[in-house]
Amino acid sequence: MRLDKILQSQGFGSRKVCQQLIARGLVEINGETCRDPKAVFQPVGLVFNVSGESYNYAEKLYILLNKPKGYECSHEAVHHFSVYELIPPLFNARGVQSIGRLDQDTTGLLIFSDDGQFIQALTHPKKHVGKQYLVQVIDPLTDEQLKQLEDGVSLKGEKGLFVATDVKQLSDHEFLMTVHQGVYHQVKRMIAAIDNKVSTLHRNKIGAFELPHDLNEGEWQYLSFEEIQRIKS
Ligand code: URA
Repeated sequence: MRLDKILQSQGFGSRKVCQQLIARGLVEINGETCRDPKAVFQPVGLVFNVSGESYNYAEKLYILLNKPKGYECSHEAVHHFSVYELIPPLFNARGVQSIGRLDQDTTGLLIFSDDGQFIQALTHPKKHVGKQYLVQVIDPLTDEQLKQLEDGVSLKGEKGLFVATDVKQLSDHEFLMTVHQGVYHQVKRMIAAIDNKVSTLHRNKIGAFELPHDLNEGEWQYLSFEEIQRIKS
């Protein structure tokens, strides 16, 4: 594929803008500046450098973020920062979307993609993809409260029961739970339904995919092909 087309496909701007970047000597392939927009490269697996930043060629983008507190999952955040400020502007230019949303005060695993089918597969209510949360609550937990979550609770304005699976108490005020739907403020409302209150909420896992321990808050990384398959399964 021609270099100017490769850059265009990755969100660097129109063909003309990409040709200018190349002509200005801002693009390096394998450590060497390439000033020929017509030069041909195999895009799959290509790692290239633009204005000193390294990028992986990706037909579709799949990235994960360790979301900090104080960031909204919205492009037009009003009261807080936007999670889209934590990822490169180039990815925003490609139209990546967060897959589901976390509240501004929730931390942890958030996945972004520009692959509509992948987003649909993870968010479709019928797919019931499990999301594991580490929950801290204000009042000490009781066995009865945990049992209520496992049996299912009703949420005002929603049909059916909302069940927590894989409930595991870690201390008086802390436990793990997995939910399989994705309604607004679901975990906080489930905890309110058992007469307790969330103090902190952190998402550890989506499906079988776990937030990497070495990814600091506010940092993002590419998902590998194997990781994408793991999430899909
Ligand atoms: N449930 C909530 O209540 N908040 C989140 O951010 C995610 C799940």
